[in-house]
Amino acid sequence: MDRFVVKGGKKLEGEITISGSKNEALPLIVASVLSDEASVIRNIPDIADIRSMIQMLKRLGAETDWRGGVLRIDPANCDKFEAPYDLVRKMRASVYVLGALLGRLGRARVSLPGGCVIGTRPIDLHLMGLEKLGAHIDIEHGYIVAHADRLVGADMYLRGPHGSSVGATANVMMAAAKAEGVTTIREASCELQVVELAGFLNAMGGKIEGAGTPVVTIHGVKELHGAEHTVVPDRHEAATYMIAAAITRGSLLIKNGTVHHMEAVVEKLRESGVEVVDEDDAIKVSAGGSLRPMDIRTEPYPGFPTDVQSLMMALLATIHGTSVITETVHPNRFMHVSELNRMGADISIEGNSAVVKGVPKLSGAPIMASELRGGAGLVLAALAAKNQTTISRIYHIDRGYENMEKKLAGAGADIERISD
Ligand code: EPZ
Repeated sequence: MDRFVVKGGKKLEGEITISGSKNEALPLIVASVLSDEASVIRNIPDIADIRSMIQMLKRLGAETDWRGGVLRIDPANCDKFEAPYDLVRKMRASVYVLGALLGRLGRARVSLPGGCVIGTRPIDLHLMGLEKLGAHIDIEHGYIVAHADRLVGADMYLRGPHGSSVGATANVMMAAAKAEGVTTIREASCELQVVELAGFLNAMGGKIEGAGTPVVTIHGVKELHGAEHTVVPDRHEAATYMIAAAITRGSLLIKNGTVHHMEAVVEKLRESGVEVVDEDDAIKVSAGGSLRPMDIRTEPYPGFPTDVQSLMMALLATIHGTSVITETVHPNRFMHVSELNRMGADISIEGNSAVVKGVPKLSGAPIMASELRGGAGLVLAALAAKNQTTISRIYHIDRGYENMEKKLAGAGADIERISD
């Protein structure tokens, strides 16, 4: 198992270039099977989750060719309908194949993803939405077994106890794109994944309106054709390096970076005293010595994203004063807290809130990543800490960050990957 060894205390200076986005690329790769023609998707990041999704498509019978960031998917022979446990357990986004296979084959057998370290993560809204379109769904031996002689458009609300669901909105959009008649999703997720998926499906000949607003209307069509699409830059990766500049009180030019759909993060960074300048295709971030504490509440877009919560927590742990972070999307997403405290942070959990009292300096320690964004938060803390930090289980980080250690080292960080 690989680990990172970080010698902290170096200000980051220079440039970091952002890769294509994991969360926007994954649903597009799956949606390509809704056609019989090949699709080409550009700016695909070389990360573990993308490799897992390509493996999944191959198991379904699709042919793929991936080089230089360009992925060509030929789904002509995609006639298998099972997404097995060994792939789904590696990556929850595999559940997207449920809607796509129902749209393509009228049947699917997909392993239940189960919970994960960030919470129980039910999929009731996915199933409810697909049932509204006419799918019959049973749970058998840990698998979702779904079939539909025909899918018919329907009206539905896709809001759960923690807000709208990105995955359920995307899954229903894929199945509804080929259903008979019109589907209206109310309380739809407004996240960028949904906007990008709608753009791709429309490029394939779909008829989807309203993506990015709470009401998405899908006019089903009989056939979709192949399409070309370029994945947007990864906004969570951009946020990670913006906060890396801030936590080391350094200055970075984040190239290919976007504040699009990251407005709430930029606003909070500015509130704490970090300078953020949005240039044409880059973001300039610099931070002086004294930053201000603040309160943050995660919410579905356009609120502050849960995927940036652990990153911001690392920063706030270094800012004098008390900050409170309330997590409303994944209320148990605090696995990183005990590791940050092992580095000398002063963070306590009260219900779904973390009370962060800034300390003058974090100190290096052996620590462990337990999920993607939490792991990235630990890397940021290590960059700011005294002495050496060893972060193990970085396969969680490799799921979503392309060349993280090379990008950080290029901006002056002392970070090394050790492979045993
Ligand atoms: C997406 O997950 C992202 N994953 C997550 O990023 C992100 O944290 C999350 O959206 C929230 O923004 C991808 O895009 C691949 P949800 P998703 O369905 O679609 C509850 C990462 O590693 N809910 O919007 O699974 C759910 O439990 C990941 O980059 C139900 O109650 O998230 C959660 O509390 C981590 N019933 C809330 O809704 C359901 O049927 C939002 O989940 C579905 C969800």
